[in-house]
Amino acid sequence: MGVKIVDTVFRDGPQSLIATRMTTQEILSCASILDKAGYYALEVWGGATFDACISFLNEDPWERLRAIRKACPNSKLQMLFRGQNILGYKHYSDDIVEKFVQKSLENGIDIIRVFDALNDIRNLKSAVDATKKYHGHCQIALSYTTSPVHTVDYYVSLAKEVEKMGADSLCIKDMAGVLLPLDAYELISKLKANIKIPIELHSHCTGGICEMTYLKAIEAGVDIIDTALSPFANGTSQPSTEAINYSLANSKYDPKLDVNCLNEAASILSKVRDKYLKNGTLNPKALTSNPNILKYQVPGGMLSNLMSQLEKQGAMDKYDEVLKEVPRVRKELGYPPLVTPLSQMVGTQAVMNVITNKRYKMVPKEIKDYLHGMYGKAPAPIDENILKEIIGDDKVITHRPADDLSPQFEILKEKYKGLARCDEDVLSIALFEQKAIKFLNEKYHPTNKDEVDEFNLYIG
Ligand code: CO
Repeated sequence: MGVKIVDTVFRDGPQSLIATRMTTQEILSCASILDKAGYYALEVWGGATFDACISFLNEDPWERLRAIRKACPNSKLQMLFRGQNILGYKHYSDDIVEKFVQKSLENGIDIIRVFDALNDIRNLKSAVDATKKYHGHCQIALSYTTSPVHTVDYYVSLAKEVEKMGADSLCIKDMAGVLLPLDAYELISKLKANIKIPIELHSHCTGGICEMTYLKAIEAGVDIIDTALSPFANGTSQPSTEAINYSLANSKYDPKLDVNCLNEAASILSKVRDKYLKNGTLNPKALTSNPNILKYQVPGGMLSNLMSQLEKQGAMDKYDEVLKEVPRVRKELGYPPLVTPLSQMVGTQAVMNVITNKRYKMVPKEIKDYLHGMYGKAPAPIDENILKEIIGDDKVITHRPADDLSPQFEILKEKYKGLARCDEDVLSIALFEQKAIKFLNEKYHPTNKDEVDEFNLYIG
């Protein structure tokens, strides 16, 4: 059996390279071609796509999903789901998580990849139970990072728990692209020896080593890898699908993808890529590798966030100092993996520590919540002095954070019955509140917007 391929060209590729700005129309320009290429699955939804649709593209993310489903009758469709954070940045109540899973599956998703930034598996339980209840394929992803606590044994023991929880497959999610080839060989070998469910590897080319890592993982027996069709591959994205397919052709690992389909879709998406390169959405810097991340362990997306935060403060000269501050903050906070939302939180704290010239003089609310246990359990103990300094004698919760959240769906449905026309609309509001309300208002009452504008013009 060859290696199975999941193509990320409609989700993680554009999310990594063009801030998730690929439109539904651009996706549909070649979705039906890729549907015939012989993939294991297409990753098409979740992550930042939902937020980008309503906040920047003025598109209904649910309509996008249904359109892709219609264009791809032969392929499994996959989404990325942030555990109790769903597709947002905070914890939602269990009934919202369950309803979101149910509606994602109903609208066309087959495989739900669930992860938690801290690998606190209590934060996965609602999403996992719901996926099984509504007969989806439940993949649990473990956030990969390196630290004194994130050893091979740590991942093996978590993987065993994940299998026990009822996951249909396991993914090692290396969002920063820091998994080294020889480490991948050891990690995948040991995982294969200890669990029976299929194992998938998700990594990024950010550090310039991903193809080597994939090859060693394949030799160690990994079942599935994530790649991106060439126009949206490499740099901060995944290795190119075509290159991997050629490399493995006629071996026992041959993914057996249809090269004609790949080429046809790639020639369409090359024009899309060129458009974004020309209008500046695709920064050529994102297309080159940056081996420095192997030293600092900072994901590519976080690097560009740090740069833009520093630019706004007129403090680009502090860039190297901030890069050195990130691992220090991360250690003090108990080595959280740098993935959404922790990557943004640790990054912001590092910037504040450097810019104010006094460490932890300013602390964002999210970091305070984290220190109170409201994101779950930190992988390693948090520095006692820092904890004391920031939250004093406040109580730290040790139970599952969502246990404190009461059911919200019916309350929101009643509250927004004048605006939301279906459960999907209610879910959009549950996740993105004002952004979704604004979006739905403009979608259903386009004239209202003009009236408001005219009114503002009048009083202005
Ligand atoms: Co990724």
